[in-house]
Amino acid sequence: MKKSYCILTLLIIALTLINACKHEIPQSAPGSPTPVPGGTNEVCFQNQILPLFQSNCAKSGCHDAASQQDGYVFDSYANIIKKGILPGNATNSEVYEVLFETGNKKMPQPPNPDLTTEQKSLIGRWINEGAKNTVNCGSVCDTTKFKYGADISLIIGTYCLGCHSGTAPSGGINMSTYSGVFTVANNGRLVNAVSHAPGYSAMPKNAAKLSSCQITQITKWVNAGAPNN
Ligand code: HEC
Repeated sequence: MKKSYCILTLLIIALTLINACKHEIPQSAPGSPTPVPGGTNEVCFQNQILPLFQSNCAKSGCHDAASQQDGYVFDSYANIIKKGILPGNATNSEVYEVLFETGNKKMPQPPNPDLTTEQKSLIGRWINEGAKNTVNCGSVCDTTKFKYGADISLIIGTYCLGCHSGTAPSGGINMSTYSGVFTVANNGRLVNAVSHAPGYSAMPKNAAKLSSCQITQITKWVNAGAPNN
């Protein structure tokens, strides 16, 4: 009698332990935002990838919600991962492959500019890291830093050049060179457009406003005379 109680107790303990293990791996729902603590090297969807898709692909006539060329819409995480991206496998992801194509398979199509080698590899890394919806990735922005080379040109490269470079830049404004950026810095349009001042077109077009830190960096740089530093 005593022995069978003992076995029963052991069995109950064992079953409890097995059950406990089942809950070990917390799975976040697919597509739900994954916060990344600052300091990790993981690519940040919100800061590094979404603006590239929005400014280079989600354009009128291309892949915005109204145009949907080939059924692709690149304006939000939910739409971006719908088609042509195999999480963990960039080389077999159509959306990544076309960045390296030539002729009429190549994306973006002329007159839109190519992505830079660095931007292409960022997208590849993001897909290989699981194409996650990483948000709130820790602030890499610092309002005390506002040099053209290290800070301003990077913001413009990520958020603006998809429209404002190439052979037919939007609004006739080409910001792929320092002198092009200097022109809109000097005539006041750059700061007014990114701060959404009344009477100016709000930039970046069809995307979220830049962070207040980024707007401060741009404003300080312009106020310092927009130097090529
Ligand atoms: C999706 C395309 C697109 C993106 C991305 C974009 N722009 Fe523009 N931008 C335009 C178009 C188109 C115009 C012409 C005016 C209009 O149609 O609103 C324009 C006009 C401007 C103007 C002139 C505004 C005025 O009222 O005189 C400035 C300055 C400007 N953009 C700066 C920027 C900056 C800085 C960024 C990045 C932070 C940016 N743009 C991102 C499409 C874009």
